[in-house]
Amino acid sequence: MRISSLKKSDMSFDLDTYLSDKKKLVEDRLNSLLRNPGAPLGKLEESIRYSALAGGKRLRPILAIAACEALGGSADNVLPIACAIEMIHTYSLVHDDLPSMDDDALRRGVPTNHTIFGEAAAILTGDALLTDAFYVMVNEGLSSGIEPELLCEVISDISHAAGSHGMIRGQAIDLQIETFTEDNGDVSLQDIELMHSLKTGALIEVSITTGAKIGGADTKQLKQLALYGRSIGLAFQIVDDVLDVVGGGDMGKESGNDARNDKSTYAQLAGIEASKKRASELTESAVGALSNFGESAEPLKEIALYLGCRKF
Ligand code: IPE
Ligand code: IPE
Ligand code: MG
Ligand code: MG
Ligand code: MG
Repeated sequence: MRISSLKKSDMSFDLDTYLSDKKKLVEDRLNSLLRNPGAPLGKLEESIRYSALAGGKRLRPILAIAACEALGGSADNVLPIACAIEMIHTYSLVHDDLPSMDDDALRRGVPTNHTIFGEAAAILTGDALLTDAFYVMVNEGLSSGIEPELLCEVISDISHAAGSHGMIRGQAIDLQIETFTEDNGDVSLQDIELMHSLKTGALIEVSITTGAKIGGADTKQLKQLALYGRSIGLAFQIVDDVLDVVGGGDMGKESGNDARNDKSTYAQLAGIEASKKRASELTESAVGALSNFGESAEPLKEIALYLGCRKF
């Protein structure tokens, strides 16, 4: 089934309004979390705020909120944790753009952090965002009323997804594959999917399961939302790699960089059409995973449909 044939069940739901409302919620809270009025941090604070408040889709925190709300929970409950996930994501972008990584010049429509503040400051900015995210989760999580035991569980999930078992493992495989292909090694689509699922999928999936747990999901609901998260996470990176080839309007970053860096991507290995087809299959599987949730999961469904075909 193609994405275009997947039916929208509630035509009154307006995704653009939903996304911009939630984006504002997240950005207002991030803005206050990343301000140190008592003891301003000078250049470090400027650099952190530069990257964290530069824009971006705020996809991961919005997914955490949408998952929480799909279960009947409130956005306020999950908001600090959702913002902390966005801080972790932003740190990963600052480091990903460094000359020793992808050496990129443009991010979120502005020059990359290291080109403005220098490499050493960019490394510290990433370090600070990552570490401060954990401070926010513990302290703001407790004051937003999340039970300590549940809070420990979601922090454990998030650290597992962001670290050497998840996102960082994916980033390491990304670099390994580059070296491997330079030596004319064979990379399979399964290798690429594993890399994508880790470097991008892990944080997306945990955003959703975190929102779901805070919203009170039972085991079955959690399993279904985890499948939804895994599917859109992988589809998201496949689409991102296609857009790197075909160019995608206002991505806020340069296209053509994967080819410049000799990256092995799904698009490069399987071609554009096969990549779109795979993204479409994954979107279908994500939407299927929501079948027991009804109207409250409409935002999750619409987000999946949007991500599976953004700007093709
Ligand atoms: C960029 O993520 C890195 C990838 C995993 C492809 P996003 O496309 O979510 O970036 P922002 O947050 O909107 O800038
Ligand atoms: C980034 O993947 C993944 C992480 C930052 C963890 P990419 O390197 O493909 O993302 P872009 O294209 O720079 O946004
Ligand atoms: Mg990269
Ligand atoms: Mg990159
Ligand atoms: Mg990319």
